[in-house]
Amino acid sequence: MDDPGVTGNGGRRPDCTEVRPGSRDPRQSHVPVLLQEALRWLAPRPGGRYVDGTVGAGGHARALLEAAGGDVELLAIDRDPEALRLAAERLSPFRDRVRFVHGDYRDLDRILDEAGWVRVDGILLDLGVSSLQLDDPRRGFSYQVDGPLDMRMDPTQPLTAADLVNRASRQELADWIRRYGEERWAGRIADFIVAERQRRPITTTGHLVEVIKAAIPAGARRQGPHPARRTFQALRIVVNRELEGLEEALTRAAHRLAPGGRLVAISFHSLEDRAVKQAFRQLAARGGFRVLTRKPVRPGEEEVARNSRARSARLRALAREAGVGVGEPGKAGEPDGDG
Ligand SMILES: C[S@@+](CC[C@H](N)C(=O)[O-])C[C@H]1O[C@@H](n2cnc3c(N)ncnc32)[C@H](O)[C@@H]1O
Repeated sequence: MDDPGVTGNGGRRPDCTEVRPGSRDPRQSHVPVLLQEALRWLAPRPGGRYVDGTVGAGGHARALLEAAGGDVELLAIDRDPEALRLAAERLSPFRDRVRFVHGDYRDLDRILDEAGWVRVDGILLDLGVSSLQLDDPRRGFSYQVDGPLDMRMDPTQPLTAADLVNRASRQELADWIRRYGEERWAGRIADFIVAERQRRPITTTGHLVEVIKAAIPAGARRQGPHPARRTFQALRIVVNRELEGLEEALTRAAHRLAPGGRLVAISFHSLEDRAVKQAFRQLAARGGFRVLTRKPVRPGEEEVARNSRARSARLRALAREAGVGVGEPGKAGEPDGDG
């Protein structure tokens, strides 16, 4: 490969030098989670073809390229163009072996077809939001600092968190906050949002935090995590459709593995982990795949002490059985000519 440019969504090319003036170098703030464990289960080998479906700042990708050595090729996907710019910078020593794609890993079949890759030796999905996104107030993910109520991982998509908060029905808001945030005060929070937006639109994270705080009774607010944490998680999941089609995407991804190839997924909340577990179990039950991690791999105390974001991480790994014939990729959930 000789074109390390970004393809997809308009074929943008990453600006490899961009680090915002005056800001903390964002590469320093992102520490890859379960790094050694991810490498261990991916077991990259020289000459292999790999996909990082959520390349972020390129931490896992760089370690993979270093560990595999030789002439490994990597397809690096992210839906966030800013993440791709940082990844391109971080992976610049390997630029002739990495292809960047601005896209959604749920479109992996199309992305691989466009790249002309039929089979791959490993796929990594480090799901969810990155600390680059969380830490940048302009992205609107954080309940800790004020910023526009945005929460889009891909700023080229039209729908923002402000659109949802100001336009969704009371029932939709309550359902989302209950289901995706597992928030017991979901109904009250939805009521307070609807009452407040009739006075004036809620367009900043700070404003939404105030509304949530007012909705949760003082006694409950003093216990546990930040009172806005669950609602923000729920809105982020809805804005980015994080759980939509996840199981199917994992199933389809698994069917692009070469014999012996590995699929490694790192999730950060129980709903995501459940989808990974389900998809892997079903693949193994149908035959041709093996779940490598009987239980999810969790970070050790030392990693959690170094990086609190790792606390909720769970890694699961799946292998395509070696030694079975692999035909053309088929539809997800169907035998695909594996013999
Ligand atoms: C936890 S971070 C990945 C960090 C990365 N492993 C590293 O070491 O720097 C997750 C990344 O996945 C991206 N992402 C989330 N959902 C995605 C999707 N459906 N398709 C493509 N990228 C996605 C986010 O934009 C974010 O950059």
